[in-house]
Amino acid sequence: MKKLIYQIPTDLFELFVVELNGYGVEIVNRDEEYTVFAIYAEDNEVSSLKSAVNEIFEDLGNGKLVLEEDIQEENWEEKWKENFKPIELPPFIIIPEWEIYTEDKLIPIKLKIAQAFGTGLHATTQLVLSLLPKYVKENYSILDIGTGTGILAIASAKLGASKVKAIDIHDKAVEECKINAWENQVNIECEEKSIEDIEGLFDIILANLQIEIFRKYFKYIPSNFEKYLIVSGIFKNKEKEEFIELANSFNLKIVEEKSKPESPEKPEDLWYAFVLEHS
Ligand SMILES: C[S@@+](CC[C@H](N)C(=O)[O-])C[C@H]1O[C@@H](n2cnc3c(N)ncnc32)[C@H](O)[C@@H]1O
Repeated sequence: MKKLIYQIPTDLFELFVVELNGYGVEIVNRDEEYTVFAIYAEDNEVSSLKSAVNEIFEDLGNGKLVLEEDIQEENWEEKWKENFKPIELPPFIIIPEWEIYTEDKLIPIKLKIAQAFGTGLHATTQLVLSLLPKYVKENYSILDIGTGTGILAIASAKLGASKVKAIDIHDKAVEECKINAWENQVNIECEEKSIEDIEGLFDIILANLQIEIFRKYFKYIPSNFEKYLIVSGIFKNKEKEEFIELANSFNLKIVEEKSKPESPEKPEDLWYAFVLEHS
């Protein structure tokens, strides 16, 4: 397995992630100017992945490979295991699949080794997890758009939602969603699907995505939820203003707004999440 480390200007990073079509990306360092990130690839995927990345860099006019490292798969898994400590996000606790939670203080969400986005470490995921207990009620139906590991769908099912559907355009994410649902003994319909193909009416829709995706696909969401839409992945004021305008244009009103810094060292770099309802 190879670890490819790239650098791109921060204002192009999210566009890059969208273009890469959901392939798991790990942020190594992010500041105002540059984002350094790693992509893990199996040996037989490396050359096609590198050409795909280079094509996107050419389209965007910037970005470069900084380092390419060989890593042993076992070491990678071991490293992941070493680094994956339980994360307490009351009322939830995210635990790796090999741990057993014996207390009844918190609601455990078990995750297997994740290549998809959604380990519970990112501010955007944590914002939605903190909103779910207030809005998800017993027997609600939930659609989780861009489910990654399935973390938000699993949390909703554990709060009593009776019908939970989770979609993602990335096949690895759908696979991980299924495995994690099974590990947590909850019933989730995980499906490989993009936003523009969603069908049905849900009490709540969850969407932790990026502004570029909302810009393109937001129009498909409002007619598919009845009570609340919980959105995350909006970075800093400029995106926040754009998102509020977008929501207004579909007659949605903000019920609650929450924010969290990207990291404690950068308290001014805020991620925003919103709870919206129909006006
Ligand atoms: C920021 S991650 C969120 C993962 C997880 N829900 C969480 O909160 O941690 C966004 C996910 O959206 C998926 N995605 C991107 N574009 C999509 C689209 N058009 N339709 C459905 N899912 C999409 C990506 O593959 C990725 O797994």
